[in-house]
Amino acid sequence: MAAAGLKHIALVGYMGAGKSTLGGELATRIGAPLVDVDAELAERIGPIPDYFRERGEAEFRAVEEAAVADALRRSGRSVVVLGGGAVTSAATRELLAGRATTLWLDADLETCWARVRGGDRPLAQDHDDFARRYEERRPIYAEAADGVVRDVDDAVLAAAGVHVERGALQRLGDLVPGSGAVALVSDPHVAGIHGVDAQLALGPRLAETHELPPGEEAKTLAALDRLWQELRLDRTGTLVALGGGCTTDAAGFAAATYLRGIAWVPAATSLVAQVDAAIGGKTGIDLPQGKNLVGAFHLPARTVVDPALLETLPAAQRREGMAEVVKTGLLVGEPLWELRDDELVRRCAAFKAAVCLRDPHDRGERKILNLGHTFAHALEAAAAYEGVTHGQAVALGLLAALRLSGRDTAPVEELLRPAPVPVDRERAWQALQRDKKTVGGELRLVLLGDDGPRIDVPVPAADVRRALDELIAG
Ligand SMILES: NC(=O)c1ccc[n+]([C@@H]2O[C@H](COP(=O)([O-])OP(=O)(O)OC[C@H]3O[C@@H](n4cnc5c(N)ncnc54)[C@H](O)[C@@H]3O)[C@@H](O)[C@H]2O)c1
Ligand SMILES: [Zn+2]
Repeated sequence: MAAAGLKHIALVGYMGAGKSTLGGELATRIGAPLVDVDAELAERIGPIPDYFRERGEAEFRAVEEAAVADALRRSGRSVVVLGGGAVTSAATRELLAGRATTLWLDADLETCWARVRGGDRPLAQDHDDFARRYEERRPIYAEAADGVVRDVDDAVLAAAGVHVERGALQRLGDLVPGSGAVALVSDPHVAGIHGVDAQLALGPRLAETHELPPGEEAKTLAALDRLWQELRLDRTGTLVALGGGCTTDAAGFAAATYLRGIAWVPAATSLVAQVDAAIGGKTGIDLPQGKNLVGAFHLPARTVVDPALLETLPAAQRREGMAEVVKTGLLVGEPLWELRDDELVRRCAAFKAAVCLRDPHDRGERKILNLGHTFAHALEAAAAYEGVTHGQAVALGLLAALRLSGRDTAPVEELLRPAPVPVDRERAWQALQRDKKTVGGELRLVLLGDDGPRIDVPVPAADVRRALDELIAG
């Protein structure tokens, strides 16, 4: 997704940290092949403990170095799991720096020891020796790694170039890749609250600041035209979009098109942007004929998410985001909406990032993110985008999706309290059919099955219409 998405993802860390397990989970989540260097080595040289004892550490490190080099030189992107001592090789560290996003899976000493004690690993026979080596290795992992991860969600976010951290706005200057000039784009409201912090954090790299109108007004050709003409960056510059989803969609599209595309970094400030809009590289603007009709896939160089910024978000805007959070929780099958902000944002962002890494151009599985949205879009269109917000429409759409999936609707009703909207039933049905063609009296929807979301589930048109009708007041 990010530029980082093209490199291998290498997992380093101490013996017993859980690299192989995490590597397997990460590979599945992001849809990349897994290369476990120790396992490949064992196929070549037989059991590693035996080789180690017979030939000594130096000879083992030499064959290990060759095996790592072999794995990292392969093309395409894989998840490469390295043995605990592999990074002691300077040649390996150099190769990692060039060909991989290297993640250090950090685990505490006793957790590692508990996993390996009593086994046959030559360097895990004595606790004191194991502890000493643990301390010796830490600075080496720190030097080799681009980031530290604790679990698979951290690893997915790192693979996607999404940086989630409380206080990240204060470090924005360090988080914008490269060293070229930066243009800061935000809406007047967000600029008034967080603009100064962003400017201070960008420091001398900040070359220009721009404003887009607030809300959907940002996503118009007129606003884009003004921004295109104001921008002074050359091709080495980076556009930083500080704001909610309207700002990141419009500014991201400006970055996709200005000088045929320059680097950009969304710094997401609304809940909608932090869990959804700023992740996955979709940028664009609206046309009078409909929303998001002109745009481009343009992956950010990095996405910056600072959950602390949600503290200034108005309650109504928070509810907009909670609709997407509930959607994500239903897709994951966990009540993510119960988590505190930092964890809620981290988990939801990681879910979307993984889906987008598996299907970067929205050709298949990414459709699951549309859970409830067929109904939502129909209601929004029937209301002519007035009097019903996207979040309210999604809440209703989720209700319909749950009912058609034969699921408990309580989470949606309790959390989002969706109220039926007074729109014209025929108009809503027409809009839904424009969105989704009926084939043989059936429509294809995203629904929840027993083992998670399913796309393209055929549902009789009459059932879809009945479910839509239940969302409409009067
Ligand atoms: N590209 C995608 O994949 C994607 C996904 C979902 C939604 N979107 C788009 O996102 C847009 C909606 O995003 P949104 O709801 O964030 O809209 P928005 O950008 O208009 O932000 C909502 C409001 O909240 C204010 N705000 C934002 N952050 C704040 C903060 N920290 N403190 C105080 N106020 C703050 C903004 O000034 C604005 O008034 C829609 O246009 C939608 O199409 C895009
Ligand atoms: Zn949505």
